Amino acid sequence: MSTGDRMQGAQAFDLARVVCRLTELERQGARAFVIGAGDWPLRGFVVRVGDAVRGYVNRCPHAGHPLNLLPDRFLTCDGALILCSSHGALFEKSSGYCVAGPCAGRALTPVALEIRHGYVLLADSVDAGALAQAAC
Ligand code: FES
Repeated sequence: MSTGDRMQGAQAFDLARVVCRLTELERQGARAFVIGAGDWPLRGFVVRVGDAVRGYVNRCPHAGHPLNLLPDRFLTCDGALILCSSHGALFEKSSGYCVAGPCAGRALTPVALEIRHGYVLLADSVDAGALAQAAC
């Protein structure tokens, strides 16, 4: 691969839509992100599910709180489920569906993602501003 090829690959996506490097999910399995400017950016998180990555708005359907209290801590101790730290709701990583807790039967708001060149990005179809407003 030439330097030109690498540069072309790096410019193949909009840097404002980059969530994180895929390798950043290896240690804790999840990571928060903020995309957008102003008072109401899109606040979300990404979670590793096997070889795939899922993204959700960081807002619990129970009371609207962010799911994490500590940075990048979204999972149960065994890493099997997403945990809301406020009142203990548990969600499936692959679907965002709440399997236990005060909002059982409801679901997290998904954020469509793409993986390109080892980076996790918002999918081109995602309007980050509209999604952030809808989550308020
Ligand atoms: S705010 Fe998440 S369980 Fe209450």
